[in-house]
Amino acid sequence: MTANSATQPAADAPPVLVDFEDGIAWVTLNRPEKRNAINPGIVYNMVRILEELEADDRCKVMVLTGAGDAFSAGMDLREYFRATDNDPKERTRLFRANGLWQWRQLRFYSKPTIAMVNGWCFGGAFTPLVSCDLAIAAEEATFGLSEINWGIIPAGVVSRALASLVREREAMYYVMTGETFDGRRAAEIGLVNEAVPRARLRERTKALAKVLMEKNPTVLRQAKIAHRMAAEMTWEQAADYLMAKVDQGTFHDPERGRDTAMKQFLDDKSFKPGLGAYQR
Ligand code: COA
Repeated sequence: MTANSATQPAADAPPVLVDFEDGIAWVTLNRPEKRNAINPGIVYNMVRILEELEADDRCKVMVLTGAGDAFSAGMDLREYFRATDNDPKERTRLFRANGLWQWRQLRFYSKPTIAMVNGWCFGGAFTPLVSCDLAIAAEEATFGLSEINWGIIPAGVVSRALASLVREREAMYYVMTGETFDGRRAAEIGLVNEAVPRARLRERTKALAKVLMEKNPTVLRQAKIAHRMAAEMTWEQAADYLMAKVDQGTFHDPERGRDTAMKQFLDDKSFKPGLGAYQR
């Protein structure tokens, strides 16, 4: 990864880096000198990059991370907020584009996504963090809903995103106090899947990506999207939708994975679905 150890990018460095490695697209927010605060450059680049990666076969799993000491210090107070205070047209355009990448694209992304939280993670950075399917944090990372400290509420869609993962008591505590917490605590409250020492963060993220790559990609896509959709339906609607989704998955799966797995388990007795994926 070219940027993770950087503290200062080259003068003409792009605000987001994309590196491909063994099926992983490492997408790195690249303003380490500004703790990867999300400015218009990051917003508009992320919209484009996410769109392009969906069609890029080198990307089987997308990992979102940050260069240097930060995942992201949240929205850029200067370039995202102050610069648009008196420019309602640009603010509307920017807010729409930001909502597009941070949750509309990410929540229903057609490929598996992992947030790799390497350091500071504040405010607006919670939305893409929550929107990724899975998240691994460095134990040493520092999280905070700092909005209360500088006179606004967790907006964008941060409060909604938080409520989808974190229990009410913990969510309210951090929304109201602005207190920081580390990667271990983030795992305890369900904001990330797990926390590992920073020295092992990349290795653990790669291992998780590898597990995802071993699955049937068509079914993986259906599974993650179906889970998100079903979570917001009634039980009756979910039951009907999920059955239809199974049929859709089977119909669209070029691997005919279900048939192969049935044969390997029931006829060949060559694998156990409870313990791993069928041989592709
Ligand atoms: N918006 C704009 N600029 C930011 C920023 C943000 N959210 N976060 C950091 N920066 C800038 C700083 O202004 C500073 O710029 P400068 O070098 O031109 O002075 C630079 O990034 C480095 O920040 P600094 O505060 O010196 O780094 P640090 O390592 O000592 O502290 C933080 C890191 C993340 C604790 C601190 O920068 C901070 O509190 N940032 C704001 C976090 C926040 O409230 N985010 C919520 C936004 S929704």
